[in-house]
Amino acid sequence: MSDSVLVGYATRYGSTREVAETVAATLRAQGLAVEVQPLRAVRSLAGYRAVVVGAPLFLFRWHSDALRFLARHRAALAQRPVAVFALGPVHDPYDEAEWQHSGDQLAKALAQTPWLTPVALKLFGGKYDPSKLRFPIKQLAGAAPASDLRDWPAIRAWAAALRPLLTGRAEG
Ligand SMILES: Cc1cc2nc3c(=O)[nH]c(=O)nc-3n(C[C@H](O)[C@H](O)[C@H](O)COP(=O)(O)O)c2cc1C
Repeated sequence: MSDSVLVGYATRYGSTREVAETVAATLRAQGLAVEVQPLRAVRSLAGYRAVVVGAPLFLFRWHSDALRFLARHRAALAQRPVAVFALGPVHDPYDEAEWQHSGDQLAKALAQTPWLTPVALKLFGGKYDPSKLRFPIKQLAGAAPASDLRDWPAIRAWAAALRPLLTGRAEG
């Protein structure tokens, strides 16, 4: 097993990829070797010591690439530390009920993989850009305004705290 960490992401509109890249940059700044890959492009976990999985919630579900990734790599993931994050809530200002619903959606998704015990699990706010939506999603989404609830200091702080959880050591 190599020493590098995989930060794998799923995305539809790009905002989760940007969060994955920020998580990776934060881990690199702590001296870890990190690769960022779309989850659907990952063929083997043989080269990685630990994995961070990030994907958005979309139409009441976690992105299917994330669930497929967990199922496909179950045996390898069971032997490695795995941290999980999701993007979801987009209502600005803060809407407690929305965060609750998004958290429930994520919990429901992860209930499908009871063998997985993430070393860290986090829900972040997402980005909503109605100009990127196409039929029929545009019609479904209604008239909500554009927003970006990604909290970059919170994302960096979460990533910075991952290091000992992913490597089993605080330094070195
Ligand atoms: C059509 C649509 C449906 C969405 N459905 C949900 C949802 O069911 N639950 C949720 O928490 N977030 C939902 N979101 C918010 C997304 O999770 C958020 O926009 C996220 O940042 C998108 O990630 P991406 O840019 O990586 O695709 C939805 C967004 C869109 C555009």
